[in-house]
Amino acid sequence: MMEAFYDVVQRRRDVRGEFTGEPIPPDVLDRILGAAHAAPSVGLSQPWDFVLVEDGGTRAAFRDHVLAEREVFAETLNGERGGTFSKLKIEGILEASLGIVVTYDPSRGSPAVLGRHAIADAGLYSVCLAIQNLWLAATSEGLGVGWVSFYREPFLAELVGLPDGIRPVAWLCVGPVTQLATVPDLERHGWRRRRPLAEAIHREKYVVKPAETN
Ligand SMILES: Cc1cc2nc3c(=O)[nH]c(=O)nc-3n(C[C@H](O)[C@H](O)[C@H](O)COP(=O)(O)O)c2cc1C
Repeated sequence: MMEAFYDVVQRRRDVRGEFTGEPIPPDVLDRILGAAHAAPSVGLSQPWDFVLVEDGGTRAAFRDHVLAEREVFAETLNGERGGTFSKLKIEGILEASLGIVVTYDPSRGSPAVLGRHAIADAGLYSVCLAIQNLWLAATSEGLGVGWVSFYREPFLAELVGLPDGIRPVAWLCVGPVTQLATVPDLERHGWRRRRPLAEAIHREKYVVKPAETN
């Protein structure tokens, strides 16, 4: 039981290129959404919603927008970074079986959201925990998930009809995969390496460690 949990945590990957496009069985979709909905939330506000996007036209429009934003980012890069980035796949919007737009409603449970009076971001943290629950549940079900954030919020809000004030937090590409890579794509393609756990641990006070690089 304990080993199974850590195994899922270590096997979870962000997927871009390995989606098969096969349908997600309805009971599996129910379970992963149920896992997301079981996440902790500030003041029990449960400020998330899930917009399930299958429509090819909606997905194509989103993909076009994401590719344009990819260019915006690429133009900020120079030399080696630009070359490395050009080889990276950053989304699997059309190849995945389903798009799930996860949203944040700051008005849910307000004005007196218990625990949010001093930290407005606590609402967003809650949505991210729901996403992580979904991601781990999907991994344990043998599905892949890819988080896409190359978009402007107003574009995605309009595309999926979000009412004023509700923010899109993520577009998740979800579906069966051929495999989950053992190493993150960004590391495999030389964009960035994972840092050792020991570098992230501080005792009593935060100490800037000499070996740390950006
Ligand atoms: C908030 C957030 C936004 C992300 N946005 C993107 C994205 O737009 N495109 C992409 O390919 N991966 C995206 N990722 C995935 C990360 O690149 C990935 O998690 C990281 O490289 C580590 O790889 P792993 O998740 O396989 O361990 C995002 C991840 C997070 C948490």
